[in-house]
Amino acid sequence: MGKDVIIACDFSSGREVMAFLNRFGEDKPFVKIGMELYYAEGPGIVREIKKRGYRIFLDLKLHDIPNTVKKAMRALSSLDIDMANLHAAGSSAMMRAALEGLTRADGTRPILLAVTMLTSIDEDIMNRELLIDRPLPETVMSYAKGAKEAGLDGVICSPHESPMVHESCGSAFLTVTPGVRFSDSGRGDQARVTTPAEARRLGSDYIVVGRPITQAGDPVAAYQRCVQEFVGGR
Ligand code: C5P
Repeated sequence: MGKDVIIACDFSSGREVMAFLNRFGEDKPFVKIGMELYYAEGPGIVREIKKRGYRIFLDLKLHDIPNTVKKAMRALSSLDIDMANLHAAGSSAMMRAALEGLTRADGTRPILLAVTMLTSIDEDIMNRELLIDRPLPETVMSYAKGAKEAGLDGVICSPHESPMVHESCGSAFLTVTPGVRFSDSGRGDQARVTTPAEARRLGSDYIVVGRPITQAGDPVAAYQRCVQEFVGGR
């Protein structure tokens, strides 16, 4: 599985995302569709983007009882997406059910990733509100190992966590990492940022990049710069 850059298409309408993707011409980047666009436009937007030949990470972070997640994943898998995700906190039974639901009749399935702990949850919130009385890194690693044991393909994490995840879950276990910024641009609301080149050095398998590409004056050039720094020439 090759390293790649995934563009977070955080737009609120199908019209905006299509106008954005049209700028890339024949180039078909890997794109991430999140809750905002999916809930606004429905599954039709996923079919439309897929029909045009893009690979899709559908970032809906499922978390429910195993049977419900299995059926929901079956519906998402039929959209022919390439990557899906869920919350590891939903239990190993839920993760195994998700894999079952995602697996198509021909045995293929999208890559399935787990969210460990949202970056909006710090150790204090985790201890006081979630009543998880452990250090945050230990909790993240425990969720990552649980995801690996349940048969998932990887986790979404900070590039800084990639070495630790690869060390304990193996180098084939994917780390898909947001929080990426160019060295010469602002960080926005991301607290800890990494450049594409640093993410590569830290061993990230995919980087998820939103605003540095979507808000750039020349998004295609920004994407190509990202690919160049993260993947190298291709
Ligand atoms: O615009 P930016 O590059 O910050 O976008 C990053 C993308 O990754 C957004 O879609 C954001 O929701 C997502 N993400 C994140 N941090 C996490 C999990 C997801 O930035 N911990």
